This record gives sequence, structure tokens and C-alpha cells, in this order.
Amino acid sequence: DKGGWSSFMAKEINEQPEAVENTVRGRVVDGLVDIPELSALGDDRLREIDRIIIIACGTASYAGQVGSYAIEQWARIPVEVQLSHEFRYRDPVLSDRTMVISVSQSGETMDTLMAVKYAIERGVTTVSVCNTQSATIPRESDAAVYTHAGPEVAVASTKAFTAQITALYLIGLHLGRVRGTLSAEASAEAVQQFAELPEKMREAVATHEQIAQLAHWMADTRSVLFLGRHVGYPIALEGALKLKEIAYIHAEGFAAGELKHGPIALIDHGQPVFVLVPSPRTAPLMHSKVVSNIQEIRARGARVIAIVEVGDTAVLPYADDVIRLPLADALFEPLLEVVPLQWFALELSTAKGLDVDQPRNLAKSVTVE
Ligand code: M6R
Repeated sequence: DKGGWSSFMAKEINEQPEAVENTVRGRVVDGLVDIPELSALGDDRLREIDRIIIIACGTASYAGQVGSYAIEQWARIPVEVQLSHEFRYRDPVLSDRTMVISVSQSGETMDTLMAVKYAIERGVTTVSVCNTQSATIPRESDAAVYTHAGPEVAVASTKAFTAQITALYLIGLHLGRVRGTLSAEASAEAVQQFAELPEKMREAVATHEQIAQLAHWMADTRSVLFLGRHVGYPIALEGALKLKEIAYIHAEGFAAGELKHGPIALIDHGQPVFVLVPSPRTAPLMHSKVVSNIQEIRARGARVIAIVEVGDTAVLPYADDVIRLPLADALFEPLLEVVPLQWFALELSTAKGLDVDQPRNLAKSVTVE
């Protein structure tokens, strides 16, 4: 049931504030993050972990990339992200102090399942971040941290993505608490950010109208670029994937700093570029670098669509369109920034008369390797 929405994807984009709320529910006790499924592994085992490898595919791998910044920051454990289908073939260095965290909405993705089985055979601790109750991957893993986003029907993942980031953040906060690397202030600040998140996400969802107008004018666009830095980088990759997937438009995401190492040659008159602009309050250095990137591409004729936090006026002289999002701590910005990009893909797909929920050549769950 689409609940009055034109597509499941539209419904699921709209459900994100509740989805992230449900992922957090029951996992904050007396102001501290406590995930019972992780506690069950034993605090000693969690303290011994010296390396985390996140394995996932597609959108779930971008959630993993966003999560890796937060886990490193809060738990001070090195985290790397690998695509599930690449993992086994590199003969990865694993030990009994390694934790492998798989991220999968369906819990049935064959590439990810095979990577998890490989990890289990090598004796590492496996944690599954999954949205589907009792799916194969969480059943095989040592611990399952469910996202509780509710069933996701559209092939293009939306609410599962933001719930996956949320779950990975909770894991980072849990590990940081157990290992003593997380200060009381940082912990309280993150818990406060989670409490404020649903309302801010509702404001992000409300960018729909503005995005719909933008997409209307861009219905003939043949290529779109996305730029981001730090946690904005995987969001740029996700914005591009969404567009390829459901609007069949060539799109690429880049780390903003990489622009001058090649991709800037792509910029030509009228080339649309979405830029995820870090907060000038919490990340002034990154903010000024990204504003310079905007100036460079604008000087070469790009059509700049800037996604900024409300009150950031630095980009105004150089942006053709500005999408404003509520203030949030740097690590929480991706959970807001991705929403207008989801709407953009949906609106361009609709403008092209395509089936938003059932894109060609794709299945909701990829159960072959
Ligand atoms: O079920 P999973 O999360 O394991 O699926 C992984 C990818 O196949 C999935 O995220 C895919 O990239 C989506 N269709 C993206 O919208």
C-alpha cells in the first residue's frame, strides 16, 4: 500500500524521520548508547577489537563509508570499507581481533553473504546491520543490529540507507563507551543530535517542492555531477547512484578535493553540479575549500546547485540554486543532505515517464554472485 503516495519510493523517503527514530529506540539508556545485541558479545571481546572492516554493496556500502568516519572518531578503531564482492579476492588480513560489520537492507545479498561466510571461516567477529528480520546474513552473524526502518519496497534504497547510517553511528557510540574512547561530552552531544534528528529530517523532506521545480527544468539533462568532502563524499556517490538507477542518467560523485586531479576537465558550459557544502560553523576549513571548488567550476560554466546549512551565505554569489537544510553537527549532516538528492532522482525519473519503483535491469535483492 503506497499510503496515498505516487510511488513506494516517495512514501519511503517520507518515512525517514520515523525510520531513524525507530533505529535509535531502546538503544539509549540513561543518556548512553547501549545496544543489547553488542553487549551480548561481551565487553572484553569488544575491547580487544583492533580493526573493523565494513562489507556491503551499492547504497549499503555508502552507508558504510559514512559510518566509518563516525566509528573511527568515537571508538578510535581503524575502519575500512570494502565492497563485498571484492573482499575475499584480496586475501584480506584478518585475525581474531578483527570485526567485520556487514551492512545489508535485505540480509540476502549473495555477494555480502559469501563475504560474511568467508569472514566466519576465518574466526573474526561478525556483526550484521540489517533491515529484514531473520534474514540469512543476520542469522549467520555473531550479532545482529536491526535497523527497524520497516519494509522497503522500492528498488532504490532510501529509508534503509539513513537507518543504516544511524545503526553504524550507534555501534560507534557503543564501542566508544565500552572502550573508554568516547568523552561524556561527545556522547551527550551525539545523543542530543539523535533526539533532534527526526524533526530536522522532516525539514529535509520538505525540500521536495523546491527539488521538484528544479528537476522540472532539468528533465533533459544527460549528465549530473556530485561533489562532497568528508562524510559528504559518500553522499555524493549515493546521489549519483540514485540518478543512474532510477532516471537512467549518467552521473558521477567525486570527492571535492579530487576535482583538480582530473574531473574538472569534464566541466563545460551548463554542466549541472550538486555540491554538498560542509558547515561553516563546525567545519570552517572544509567549508572554505568547498567554496573555492564552487568558484572554480562556476568560472568554467557549471550550473551549481549548492546544498548548504541554513544561514550559509558564502555560496550565494556563485550558486544557481541553493537548497537549505537545518543546522546539525558535521557527522549528522549526511542524514539530511541525502534527502534532497533522493527527491531529485525520483523527480527526474518521473519527469522522464519512468517507473520509479521498478527500474529496468534491477531487482530489490540481488541473490546471485
Ligand atoms: O539488500 P542490500 O542492502 O544488501 O542491497 C545492496 C545493494 O544491492 C542496494 O543497496 C542497491 O545498491 C540499491 N538498489 C540502491 O538503491
